[in-house]
This record gives sequence, C-alpha cells and structure tokens, in this order.
Amino acid sequence: MASSKTLNLRTPIVIASGPGGFGEYLKVESIDWSYVGAYTLKTITLNPKAGNKPPRIYASDSFMINRIGLENPGFEGFKKMIESGELDILLSHVPAILSLGGDSFEEYVEITKLMRPYLDNFLAIEYNFSCPNVHHGGLSIMSDRDEWRRLLKEIRKETDAFIIAKLGIESGFIENMARIVALESWDGVTVINTIRGLMVNSDGQVLLGGLSGPALYPIALRAVFEVRKALPDMYIIASGGIYTPEQVSEMLRFGANAVSIGSALFQNEGVINKLDRELVKNTNK
Ligand SMILES: Cc1cc2nc3c(=O)[nH]c(=O)nc-3n(C[C@H](O)[C@H](O)[C@H](O)COP(=O)(O)O)c2cc1C
Repeated sequence: MASSKTLNLRTPIVIASGPGGFGEYLKVESIDWSYVGAYTLKTITLNPKAGNKPPRIYASDSFMINRIGLENPGFEGFKKMIESGELDILLSHVPAILSLGGDSFEEYVEITKLMRPYLDNFLAIEYNFSCPNVHHGGLSIMSDRDEWRRLLKEIRKETDAFIIAKLGIESGFIENMARIVALESWDGVTVINTIRGLMVNSDGQVLLGGLSGPALYPIALRAVFEVRKALPDMYIIASGGIYTPEQVSEMLRFGANAVSIGSALFQNEGVINKLDRELVKNTNK
C-alpha cells in the first residue's frame, strides 16, 4: 500500500532535478520564489562523478538531448556544501527536495544512511532510478525487477522521510513500476525522466543522451494518466516537456499532484513565475 502521506506545497510548481543544479545556474535573487512549491536539487551519488565530455547538450525547438552523466560532487562534496552554508541562500527561499542516485544496490542504501543527519533541510527525497546517461545504476538498476523491489524495501527500512521514486518509461509499463513502489510503502513517484535518444549534430558528432523538452509532454501526460488510474492515492509529480500554464493545468487534471519544470528553464528561468501566476489567474486557487 502506498503511504497516505502527502507533500503540502505552497504551489504545485516544482523545479526538476538537474537543469537548475544546486541553484548556481539560476539567478536565485531574480526569481519570485513564492511561485515555486519546491526545488529538486541535482542528483547526488555516493562518489563524485565528473560527468561526460562535451558536447553535453543539444537543444532544438521540439526537444533537448543531454548527456551530462550525473556530474555531482558526491556525498562528501555535498556535505561540505551544506556545512559551509553554500546552499543557505537557496534553502532560505524555497523548500527543497534531495535527489539521490547510485551505481549499485549498496550505494543507494549507503547514501540513504549517510544523508540522515542532513534531512531536516529537505521536504522529501527523490530517488533517481531512471537516468539514461550512466552505465551502472540509473535505468539499469530497474532491469532486474526483483532486485529493484528488494532495494525499495531496503531504502524504506532505512528512512522515515517522504520518499519518491523517479521512474522512466524504459523498463516496463510505468503503472506496473508504480504499483511496486506503492507495495513497498513509498510515498510518491515522479513520472517520467528523460528517454534515451540519439542525434547527430551539425559537426557530425553522434550524441547519445536523454531526450527531454516539448517532445516528451504527451508521453509524460499518458504516464500520469496511467499511474493515477492504477493508484488513486499515490502522490504523483509530473515531469516531461511542461512549458505552459495550460500544460500545468492539464497535468493536474489528469492526476498529478505537482508538476516539475526542467528543460523549460533553459529557455527562460522566469517561466516559473509565469506558470504559477497564470495558473492562479485561471483557477482562482
Ligand atoms: C540538463 C539536464 C540535467 C538533468 N539532470 C538530472 C538529474 O541530475 N537527476 C534527475 O533525476 N533528472 C535529471 N534530469 C531530468 C529532468 O529532471 C526531467 O525529469 C526531464 O528532463 C524531463 O523534464 P523536462 O522535459 O521538463 O526537462 C536532467 C535533465 C536535463 C535536461
């Protein structure tokens, strides 16, 4: 059974893990944070990751491909960021969701334990089980369904935090994955992550990366619809190609509790304020 816990966000707009990093890519002071319900930090793994060599991002009007490769400072680097106060400005403006990843079963469990002293800073933990840009962990951790379920059970045992599984669509029907998440008493799901894509850029370079942006929207909407149909009580964060207030409303209508904004930030970070302002106007919430 999914837990009956919920996240009480001041608005349903969430910043997606990755595009905003740890706040360093955004003009933190120029955003009206009252329009943002939560900020998901970039995924942290146990050991630091340098990420992939450039080119890392390709953007067109209809999609983006990124092959960042989960670049992050690892647990020790993150601990320093928290202890030195580097995240204080961001955390003083907006409630944050921690995003964790791993290269193996053991790493996911270990980082869960290590993060315990820091959890007071965060509303929830989102576990990234769906990054297509790494060779271990990420998507591949879900390819052995029994092992993945055992991991969900183990993580649930290790923490009382509000835990959210971020699921992609490449390891089976997403509603079946979400049912497993609910059976292991997790509190929510984020659907979807990027999908593996390939494109050749104007220099003839082949980019294998995660597809995001407008092209993802109908796929993400269908995922939200299917998960909501299967699990009426599950907390759902929608992610994928959300750029307009109409899309935000539609995602909420088809069952999302909150919507996350990722690639749209590359166009214009002011998009966040606009999305919620329009939403308020249209729904009188
Ligand atoms: C440049 C970039 C970096 C990303 N990094 C992460 C990450 O560290 N962790 C994660 O869970 N998702 C990551 N994502 C996926 C986004 O959080 C989001 O789920 C996905 O891009 C789909 O939403 P969008 O179309 O609004 O971008 C990243 C996406 C992009 C474009």
